[in-house]
Amino acid sequence: MSTTTDNWPEVQRHAREVLGADVADFIAECRAGEHPESRLIAVLHKVQDKFGYLGGDQLDAVAQLLQVPAAKVAGAASFYHYFRLTPRGKYMIHVCLGTACYVKGAERVAQRFMEELGITWGETSSDGVFTLEGSRCLGTCGLAPVVMIDDEVHGPITPDEVPVLLDKYLKQAKEDG
Ligand code: FES
Repeated sequence: MSTTTDNWPEVQRHAREVLGADVADFIAECRAGEHPESRLIAVLHKVQDKFGYLGGDQLDAVAQLLQVPAAKVAGAASFYHYFRLTPRGKYMIHVCLGTACYVKGAERVAQRFMEELGITWGETSSDGVFTLEGSRCLGTCGLAPVVMIDDEVHGPITPDEVPVLLDKYLKQAKEDG
């Protein structure tokens, strides 16, 4: 069921401002179709491509323009791991979760990253320096377990080496300003 509110023009104007005309026009196209809800994932991809992540304001604007309940939009955004709900950090950490790395303890390495940074998959540390992602095989199984930070491969890595590695990148981030 599609509903509109009395202040629909105002809501629409604000949502267009948040998302920009290109995304708002795309949503309008989706809404004109038969089942706008079925286009939700496509819309979220478009928003993430543009902003790099899905922020609360953007999610609300999608709900308003697509006329889909906000809880459903937020649920889809948090369910799929490829959607990022916080801005990307300066460094992307990819922990390989491929078979060879998994067998050699990648999960414990991942756990240590989460503990040290206070974040989970897809999140960014509060200082904005690191974003943590799981990854399929990075093609360097001989070094398992492997972690890639930006385009630098590290392996084999133990959980106790995680803080040392993070320190190195933190120093680099400070030097870069
Ligand atoms: S399984 Fe991790 S690099 Fe191949």
